[in-house]
Amino acid sequence: MKIIDSESDIGLIAASYVKLRINQAGGRIVLGLPTGGTMESFYAHLIEFYAKGEVSFKEVITFNLDEYIGLERGSAESYRSYMNTRLFDLVDIEPANIHFPDVYAADLEKAGFEYDKKIESFGGIDIFLGGVGRNGHIAFNEAGTPFDAPTHKVKLEESTRKANSRFFGNDINAVPKYAFTMGMGTILKSKEIIILATGEKKSEAIYRAVEGNISTQWPVSALRLHDNSYILADTKALSQVSSASMNRLRACSLGSCGVKKD
Ligand code: GLP
Repeated sequence: MKIIDSESDIGLIAASYVKLRINQAGGRIVLGLPTGGTMESFYAHLIEFYAKGEVSFKEVITFNLDEYIGLERGSAESYRSYMNTRLFDLVDIEPANIHFPDVYAADLEKAGFEYDKKIESFGGIDIFLGGVGRNGHIAFNEAGTPFDAPTHKVKLEESTRKANSRFFGNDINAVPKYAFTMGMGTILKSKEIIILATGEKKSEAIYRAVEGNISTQWPVSALRLHDNSYILADTKALSQVSSASMNRLRACSLGSCGVKKD
């Protein structure tokens, strides 16, 4: 695991890196894409790069990390709508290259299995981008999820529903109780993992990601099991991380720079 700390816009740093990687790959790359407030600047910069002709999504393959179960198709609160309004409707991505877990499937276990197979059929995820929940969840993998879990249905924690209620008119009762998430096992198979975090509210999760035991109680700590994972965060989110860890893990940029392996 490596850490990149920045006081400038981390969404811009991540978007610039993804643009570079898309262009280096000749346009064809497989991305794992998240939702959430932290990622808004990332998507805003991607569409700006696209509008300036600096990147094309024509050949890009995407797999979204998660989706609520129980919302009506097309609901404004669904992650599909989030992605349509912030990226997909605004760039030249082919609809057939966009993938979401099928939360409307009759057999969700099978749908999870098929999602993972689909990812594998594209050679796996090249760059997995994610946020982190205050309780350390990644995508919707809550505490206790085994690190080898496939894509699956989850019961959301009360704290997660509360945190996400801001997207549901601050009404926790409107937040679905269940969701479908890319599993920790699926995520850890990605070739590169980048987790973005900003603000004090994420500082405990980031502390647990970096220090102490690697534990399913803090899914984000699984990043330490991955050879090519990054935390890209601001000073507030990193405020509980020791300076010894910062010195050991700090990298100068995404995708490169000498840092001792954790
Ligand atoms: C939701 C999503 C996660 C995301 C988290 C943090 O729970 N399922 O994928 O990482 O929110 O979101 P935010 O950036 O809004 O804090």
